[in-house]
Amino acid sequence: MFELTGKTAIVTGGARGIGKGISMTLAKQGANVVIADLLVDQAEETAAEIRKSGAKALAVQTDIADLASVKAMVEKVNSEFGKIDILINNAGWDRMKPFMKTTPDFWDKVININFKGVLNTVYVVAEGMIAQNSGRIINIASDAARVGSMGESVYSGAKGAVLSFSKTLARELARNSITVNVLCPGPTPTPLLDDMKAEDSFADKVLSSMDKIIPLKRMGTPDDIAAAVVFLSSEEAGFITGQVLSVSGGLTMC
Ligand SMILES: NC(=O)c1ccc[n+]([C@@H]2O[C@H](COP(=O)([O-])OP(=O)(O)OC[C@H]3O[C@@H](n4cnc5c(N)ncnc54)[C@H](O)[C@@H]3O)[C@@H](O)[C@H]2O)c1
Repeated sequence: MFELTGKTAIVTGGARGIGKGISMTLAKQGANVVIADLLVDQAEETAAEIRKSGAKALAVQTDIADLASVKAMVEKVNSEFGKIDILINNAGWDRMKPFMKTTPDFWDKVININFKGVLNTVYVVAEGMIAQNSGRIINIASDAARVGSMGESVYSGAKGAVLSFSKTLARELARNSITVNVLCPGPTPTPLLDDMKAEDSFADKVLSSMDKIIPLKRMGTPDDIAAAVVFLSSEEAGFITGQVLSVSGGLTMC
């Protein structure tokens, strides 16, 4: 079940955190994995770890907020692997602050990475998927998109846009046998969370006590998210599209 041998997957932000967990797990299921990340050294390290396990991996320095950079990455992937079967839009970024303390430059950064980044990759990758009449697109949003999150107003809005975009895209691409689904992690210790906690005492306080309010009484792990990614990437999940699934220990139930 959930065999991905011979499939090629792009994981944006696959160098570290949740994306690294997704990349390693997809490789374990037999996929060739492309790590498209700004952090090229860490992307190379993750790719090397995957290769050691016997799977194929390629690291490509990519800025998902820049359409030209995404186009260059996809060209490299196509010349290395010939096709793209799975696109995991995982790269994201945020900092916690009340909306009235944010600035338009901050809004641009949050929206460009978390929403426009998804538009850019889909715009370029879906062309090949349409031509081959198959594909899996999985967008990593956040529980913040479903229920809001104190101090994450712009991020919640951008991730909410990912949810609505994904549902519409799922309708448009269904005729091409391409499925589009969304996963919403809850709080998951990663370098992103470490940076948010280090930079702001409110973020530190909120994020350090989340495990107490999660029904399953622990924070998430990259492997929790990766398991759901593998399922939604598989042939077996071919009748599931336009859906939003939280992987957050029951933090949100909606
Ligand atoms: N960690 C959490 O608690 C949590 C909760 C909900 C949702 N998420 C979402 O999960 C995803 C992964 O988050 P994480 O916690 O692993 O973060 P992380 O910062 O640990 O890893 C994110 C990766 O994305 C890369 N990245 C950032 N901007 C990029 C860009 N413009 N182009 C290419 N790569 C870029 C980073 O270099 C990094 O390797 C994000 O979309 C995040 O919003 C995380």
